[in-house]
Amino acid sequence: MRQFPDGFLWGTATAAYQIEGAHDADGKAPSIWDTFSHLPGKIENGDTGDVACDHYHRYREDVGLMSELGLNAYRFSISWPRVLPAGTGASNRPGLDFYQRLVDALLERRITPFITLYHWDLPQALQDQGGWARRDIATAFGEYAGLMGRTLGDRVKHWITLNEPFAFVAIGHLFGVHAPGIADAPTAFQASHHVNLAHGEAVRALRASVPGSRIGITQVSMPVYPASDTDADRTAARRFDGFTNRWYWEPSLIGRYPDDVLERLGRAAPKIEPGDLDRVAPPIDFFGHNSYSRAVVRDDPSSIMVGATQIETRNPKTEMGWEIYPDHLYDALTRITRDYRAPDIYITENGAAFRDQPVNGVVDDPQRIDYLRTHLAACHRAIADGVKLRGYFCWSLLDNFEWAYGFSKRFGLIYTDFPTQRRIVKASGRFFADVARRNALPNGTSA
Ligand code: GCO
Repeated sequence: MRQFPDGFLWGTATAAYQIEGAHDADGKAPSIWDTFSHLPGKIENGDTGDVACDHYHRYREDVGLMSELGLNAYRFSISWPRVLPAGTGASNRPGLDFYQRLVDALLERRITPFITLYHWDLPQALQDQGGWARRDIATAFGEYAGLMGRTLGDRVKHWITLNEPFAFVAIGHLFGVHAPGIADAPTAFQASHHVNLAHGEAVRALRASVPGSRIGITQVSMPVYPASDTDADRTAARRFDGFTNRWYWEPSLIGRYPDDVLERLGRAAPKIEPGDLDRVAPPIDFFGHNSYSRAVVRDDPSSIMVGATQIETRNPKTEMGWEIYPDHLYDALTRITRDYRAPDIYITENGAAFRDQPVNGVVDDPQRIDYLRTHLAACHRAIADGVKLRGYFCWSLLDNFEWAYGFSKRFGLIYTDFPTQRRIVKASGRFFADVARRNALPNGTSA
């Protein structure tokens, strides 16, 4: 038995646009994902999040399932345009009420809520004014954070400002594959600076409105390994790490941008006004860590900005095409602890998509069980080596809307039959419940 520390949190993570549905119910205004998912050709099979898992109407059943699995924490996000249809100004009472009911249902079941304020569904009204490319979005985000803090802060103590700045900045503003579908380097890097300013505003607003708050930010981490031992590949790995990890982590953790990345950006570097760097790194209580896989890279001068290219390895992959390499989690956790003297850490997402199918009403998913087993063993090893890991949130509670992949990728511990909205707990859900109940990983797991 590998015992986890007392008080360790076991939960699942979700995001509003991926599960809620009810896209125009009760005064909710569109987000950039409502707009983007309806554009032809953007999402696999033309899927949208209009209905998704219909969690907005079925949240009680879903909280009941968490409780049945014995989970003691849940990470979910607020849909900004559900509570503030125009992004700022007048709030939408029915939207706020929904989150009140959800929080109450969780607390009744003794499940600790972790709220993410921004999991990518910016109000379309704000995008129409320039979105993250506009500097005063930081003020709007601070106001929104304050509203949520005042509404739920008597019951919710754990707050995450933003989910994966790398992903929504780069995939949404540099590669153009996610909403808002922009592909422009200067816009993307300027947006990333505004994201950091917004984080700072939100932390201050939450501190002021939530007594006893525990506040963090969630970053995705992609540990980078050189394809060979040559100097060229090693420095390529360092550059790749700069563009995917350090650029996004360091402003909020240590109040600066990495020099090596700034230098390579040249004219695409963001405009940073005097005093900005004093505003982006107010103290936080935890680092939320999303991690699925690693990158192995080689030097590649033809890649103009980063000068590095990711290569394929021979290890097995998940349905997303992501290499299964459990050590990446140990390496990432120990690295954050070592390089940044990080405060507490939570794994705010880790998990895997596989091609699950019910057979006679049962979903057997041995690959996901194996993924969880080996990755939890890596977490256990990191804790033993001094990492202050306080909880693990599996991505995800339910199969849901996987962004540009639509409903084609299933990450849930619970199977969603989308046409009927029937939920079936997968074998991995039972496995995870067992680990949570014992607060321990059964023996026989290597990592
Ligand atoms: C992300 C998001 C999640 C995803 C999950 C699987 O990391 O992209 O936080 O919303 O659905 O990570 O890709």
